[in-house]
Amino acid sequence: MDSAVMEEVLLDVRGLRKSFGAVAATQDVDLTVRAGEIHALIGPNGAGKSTLITQICGEIRPDAGQIHLAGRDVTAMPAYERARRGLGRSFQITQLCLEYTAIENVMLSLTVGPRTIFSIWSDPRRDAKLAGRAQSWLERVGLADRADVPAADMAHGERRQLELAVALAREPRLLLLDEPMAGMGPEESARMTRLLAGMRERYGILLVEHDMDAVFALADRISVLVYGKLIFTGSCDEVRQHPEVRSAYLGDAAC
Ligand SMILES: Nc1ncnc2c1ncn2[C@@H]1O[C@H](COP(=O)(O)OP(=O)(O)OP(=O)(O)O)[C@@H](O)[C@H]1O
Ligand SMILES: [Mg+2]
Repeated sequence: MDSAVMEEVLLDVRGLRKSFGAVAATQDVDLTVRAGEIHALIGPNGAGKSTLITQICGEIRPDAGQIHLAGRDVTAMPAYERARRGLGRSFQITQLCLEYTAIENVMLSLTVGPRTIFSIWSDPRRDAKLAGRAQSWLERVGLADRADVPAADMAHGERRQLELAVALAREPRLLLLDEPMAGMGPEESARMTRLLAGMRERYGILLVEHDMDAVFALADRISVLVYGKLIFTGSCDEVRQHPEVRSAYLGDAAC
């Protein structure tokens, strides 16, 4: 990939701080994600990973610090403005409309995307052009033949793939993925890993994940968060060898 593109910083987080009462969930966190990069964020339960993601999205406000998206300070912007500026996300717990089919979920996402003018009087599910676009996103995530299946009837791994299609349909530049492999078996996890690997060059991705096989297979860089503090950022090899990271998170099994 073009090195100038790879060097573009899509996300720049500086000195981000957030406390809930006595819990310092994010303590002066600095983090960048470049275009074309998969930056993994790992850390034990309760380390503050989701809290960091929700601050970057704009769902909760930091107590201090700045967030820049593609060079623009978005710290005071509401979540929908950030989404309009290219921020996409998936959630730790799935947020699909379970009674809707796969294609309907993606079509709904397209109707709230940045490039669609949508009338509240028309039923978007009857729009053939929209259906065609939604189908192509389903193909992109390997769900082409599951378009008419209600999300409620899909396997867990398929739902996570669908969630990805829903996020991608909004044409983000930066994707925040909060545990996309959560609850998956090894086969589903490997499928999701292949899917994310294929997306690498088109997006910047901040990947929160406990599945260390997936993290080591995908990450260009890894940041380690422990009790709200970013204790290290480096390559997979550097993280594997870092003594503090080993004791805080990896344990002997992963090294
Ligand atoms: N809305 C909230 N109100 C109060 N405390 C919160 C809130 N959200 C998170 N916390 C606390 O902040 C800390 C960080 O939580 P967070 O969910 O960000 O961790 P995490 O790294 O995503 O954990 P996990 O790996 O289990 O998903 C925890 O101590 C949690 O209890
Ligand atoms: Mg979390």
